[in-house]
Amino acid sequence: MLEVKHLVRQFGGLRAVDDVSFTLRANTITGLIGPNGAGKTTLFNTIAGMHTPTSGKILFQDKSIGGLPPYRIYRLGLARTFQIPRPFAAMSVLENSMLAPIGQAGEYFWNNWFNRSKVRGQERACRERAQEILAFLGLDQLAGESAKNLSGGQQKLLELARVLMADPKLILLDEPGAGVNPSLLVTIMDKLKALNSRGVTFLIIEHNMDLVLSLCDPVLVMAQGKLILEGPPALVRSDPRVLDAYLGGVE
Ligand SMILES: Nc1ncnc2c1ncn2[C@@H]1O[C@H](COP(=O)(O)OP(=O)(O)O)[C@@H](O)[C@H]1O
Ligand SMILES: [Mg+2]
Repeated sequence: MLEVKHLVRQFGGLRAVDDVSFTLRANTITGLIGPNGAGKTTLFNTIAGMHTPTSGKILFQDKSIGGLPPYRIYRLGLARTFQIPRPFAAMSVLENSMLAPIGQAGEYFWNNWFNRSKVRGQERACRERAQEILAFLGLDQLAGESAKNLSGGQQKLLELARVLMADPKLILLDEPGAGVNPSLLVTIMDKLKALNSRGVTFLIIEHNMDLVLSLCDPVLVMAQGKLILEGPPALVRSDPRVLDAYLGGVE
């Protein structure tokens, strides 16, 4: 699904991602852990196109995507969520979900003037799809609610809803468990499992070890820009290098 080869992303003299190589197999849920400042978010940003790689290669389904703009990568089926969700606060949950789909006929003014029925048809299809996704995620009761009234966990789910509108094959999740209450966390984990069984591949940055250990296999460990370990969760958990990385980190 994804191949990252000798990836480097530098900020001035700092190598935030320093010669990182790994492969994500299709249909897996891979965890990415490491102390604050390890380079996890920078790795996500570089894969998703927010940063250009300083050097190295990124292949998504055998296609080179390194340096492509985010919208092109998104259209290829690789989506990401943010550590801190950014919904449009004044818009409803349903409206927020409907912003995401790509290549809508209504985006082209020509269609608005001359192709009204096509635009209306697509809008209806978009609304129906958003409603289905909100129902799947258990947000359908909140469809009319302003996004600003959602809890942290509900905002994480809304982000997932927006990403799902594009029907991605690979989703990068930046801390889906952060700021989420325990019962909603169980819901989020169940939804991720269900999506994975329908063929979605995940790479997940997460600090909550319970989530990582029960959901992710394999787990990648980063420290100071480098990938220091990769393996099944039980092995990673008991590896002294992981403990060292956290103790030596800048938590
Ligand atoms: N846009 C940026 N400009 C300069 N330095 C950055 C930028 N983004 C991240 N960094 C630095 O890169 C390092 C890795 O950060 P980050 O990828 O956010 O780590 P993590 O997500 O693992 O906590 C940190 O030292 C951080 O200060
Ligand atoms: Mg981060």
